Amino acid sequence: YGYFTYDPGFLATASCESAITYIDGGKGILQHRGYPIDSLAKQADYLEVCYILLNGAAPTKSQYDEFKNTITNHTMVHEKLAHFFQGFLPDAHPMAMVCGVVGALSSFYHSDLDIDDKDQRTRSAHRLIAKMPTIAAMAYKYSIGQPFVYPRNDMSYAENFLHMMFSVPAEEYKVSPTIAKAMDRIFTLHADHEQNASTSTVRLAGSSGANPYACIAAGVASLWGPAHGGANEACLNMLEEIGSLENIPKYVAKAKDKADPFRLMGFGHRVYKNFDPRATVMRETCHEVLKELNIKDPLLDVAMELERIALEDEYFVSKKLYPNVDFYSGIILKAIGIPTSMFTVIFAMSRTVGWISHWDEMLSQPGQKIGRPRQKYTGELDREFTPLHDR
Ligand code: CMC
Repeated sequence: YGYFTYDPGFLATASCESAITYIDGGKGILQHRGYPIDSLAKQADYLEVCYILLNGAAPTKSQYDEFKNTITNHTMVHEKLAHFFQGFLPDAHPMAMVCGVVGALSSFYHSDLDIDDKDQRTRSAHRLIAKMPTIAAMAYKYSIGQPFVYPRNDMSYAENFLHMMFSVPAEEYKVSPTIAKAMDRIFTLHADHEQNASTSTVRLAGSSGANPYACIAAGVASLWGPAHGGANEACLNMLEEIGSLENIPKYVAKAKDKADPFRLMGFGHRVYKNFDPRATVMRETCHEVLKELNIKDPLLDVAMELERIALEDEYFVSKKLYPNVDFYSGIILKAIGIPTSMFTVIFAMSRTVGWISHWDEMLSQPGQKIGRPRQKYTGELDREFTPLHDR
């Protein structure tokens, strides 16, 4: 193809240089700014991870406090933004609302935004990290017909999200420390994953000079699909469809049948051809949460049996199809009481820091060019054109 190569699905193409996230899929390694993911998930909180992704290294205590204070101060959204929700039908998917409302942030903050100015880029990053949980919880509250709950600045990031999701004017939701910790871990484990579809979408949108809120809306749209962020919702729907242990062999057979488009959701990954290191931590957290909440959920029995069969079955073993992060996150979210339709929204909230860190990194790199892939043309050439009246 002349001076370019044909690589559908970007299986062998690196689109950029990046110092944010390192993945060795063969060895099951994931590191952010050089820090292994399991250390971050177990020893840092999500806002520390946000700081690390955005700024390149772990914060000192005073840097952390200042960062937390800044994020906390941006959690409110403009009252006019709340009106956007009224335009959606109550049964609209929360991802549809989030995609639209995040894009609408452009109209509040971009008029004076100079994306070549690092300080201004940082301010939009802070705004997005702070406002995403507020917008996500508003989408949920709107869908169930309850009033919006304002953010609380005395709570942690995870506690505040749970508060905005579950408090009602008559009664404040009591946030259990185990649930807040599990929520925080879900945020951390989804914070970044280098050049996946949605991050590449954000970079590509941003490469034209588009404003950050529009770029993040593009990322939300790209994340929504079931092969990417939509997998956690699709996984839970699949477990519900399977329903009981005796149905599992039928579904495993369907997944292996090449004539059947059905796939086991929550299994397989483009990059991890070994275990997904995020799934290991998520699995532990999943068991902690279910124990703490004393939950006996038949869907969990289905999930555990599916995991056991898939890890032993020749088809899955030979293709290196291991449970991925979304296999376990869906079970945790369900146990916490989060509806399935909000799963991908939570992924989008968590990934916003990754998206905006990549956007900022790209704009900081000298000589950055607009992203413009080429194609392999398969259409006709040199056809004779006949005017309409002669056809
Ligand atoms: N169930 C059954 N077979 C599968 C599955 C699955 N979940 N995943 C892949 N395969 C088979 C596929 O049919 C193919 O077989 P063959 O070589 O005989 O044609 C082989 O495994 C390789 O699959 P692929 O589609 O070429 O692999 P990919 O790297 O392009 O796709 C994937 C990766 C994640 C899209 C895919 O594994 C999948 O669709 N998984 C289910 C959806 C899912 O859980 N996605 C979440 C990914 S983790 C969260 C995130 O980062 O977004």
